[in-house]
Amino acid sequence: MTQRPLLIAPSILAADFSKLGAEVEAVDRAGADWIHIDVMDGHFVPNISYGEPVMRSIRKVTPKVFDVHLMIAPADPYLAQFAAGGADIITVHAEAGPHLDRSLQAIRALGKRAGVSLNPATPVAVLDHVLDRLDLILIMSVNPGFGGQSFIAESVTKVKQARALAGRRPIDIEVDGGITAETAPLVYRAGANVLVAGSAVFKGDDYGRNIRAIRQACATVSV
Ligand code: DX5
Ligand code: ZN
Repeated sequence: MTQRPLLIAPSILAADFSKLGAEVEAVDRAGADWIHIDVMDGHFVPNISYGEPVMRSIRKVTPKVFDVHLMIAPADPYLAQFAAGGADIITVHAEAGPHLDRSLQAIRALGKRAGVSLNPATPVAVLDHVLDRLDLILIMSVNPGFGGQSFIAESVTKVKQARALAGRRPIDIEVDGGITAETAPLVYRAGANVLVAGSAVFKGDDYGRNIRAIRQACATVSV
């Protein structure tokens, strides 16, 4: 198994929406690797966030990778819109529809990297037969829908399983929910290489320090 480089993806769900462009510029300058964009429909998850028009408007303020996490069902009718609006990675939930293989083919056909997210209760084995259609596996370490929830420790086991399942394929293993300088090393050691963090990055006014704290916590881990 090969560990890919550590990337930090701040979730703008925790940003101040009244000045979203400035918030995205601030995390970009603060050292974000990717920008994580949480799209919620009030149906697949019990909360509504923002959609493609908001993503498209912040596309103007940063060249960084847009890592779009679709918590919507159905997802397929909206994939082309997110691709055209500037998404680089489009992640759908395995639980969001009956045709995961089709969704992944559709994302790649749009020229984008394809991800699958798994809720805490969903076993990694649902990916057994789609591994060659995947660029990213997103392990949810909270039940999706809200920022600021507590990390579910069982996710560490799932990260290990996902890393092992990916094998030598060039698949990123991402973790989302409750990531802080305390929990980050647990999932990094288990094989995750992309860490999403919302509240832990957008707290206080020094986003750079917050991002560095997560990186430094992982730097002590040998993988
Ligand atoms: C939860 C979202 C997460 C969330 C993470 O449904 O997918 O990206 O914003 O927030 P924190 O880091 O605060 O747990
Ligand atoms: Zn997310």
